[in-house]
Amino acid sequence: MDEGGISKPLDTGIRTINDDHSKLFRILAEVRRAIQGNDERENIVSAIMTARDLFHLHCGKEEFLMREANCDLVEGSARDHRLIAGEFDKLVENAQSIGGADLDQATRNLMMIIVKHIMTYDREYAREVNESLDIPDLGLMMFQDVFE
Ligand SMILES: [Fe+2]
Ligand SMILES: [Fe+2]
Repeated sequence: MDEGGISKPLDTGIRTINDDHSKLFRILAEVRRAIQGNDERENIVSAIMTARDLFHLHCGKEEFLMREANCDLVEGSARDHRLIAGEFDKLVENAQSIGGADLDQATRNLMMIIVKHIMTYDREYAREVNESLDIPDLGLMMFQDVFE
């Protein structure tokens, strides 16, 4: 995956959503580099927490857009968001006790879960949101600077 942007299978067509996803993967890639480089545990834990905070804000943004667009996927998507949030909590816990290859693998697994989520839910709701014309603009106006 291109760390600077978002690869085609993950493209939602909504810029602010793509930007969040890119940023999330960039931070998690940094986490993996820090683990592989035997960085201080404190730094690794704090980077994972940054990714977790970003994920929570991002889910709020997505669920708002879905509700505005009356998208049926909102329930299933919110459930999946909660599952992934739980995985983030587990990763923060793991980062305090394990390290090395196991923690690296756990971080990689979480990235794959997020990829799967984007392909299953995010791309689909984004298509519906994009079809209800004014909504993306509204969403962009409300959330533009959240992650700057
Ligand atoms: Fe999502
Ligand atoms: Fe997303």
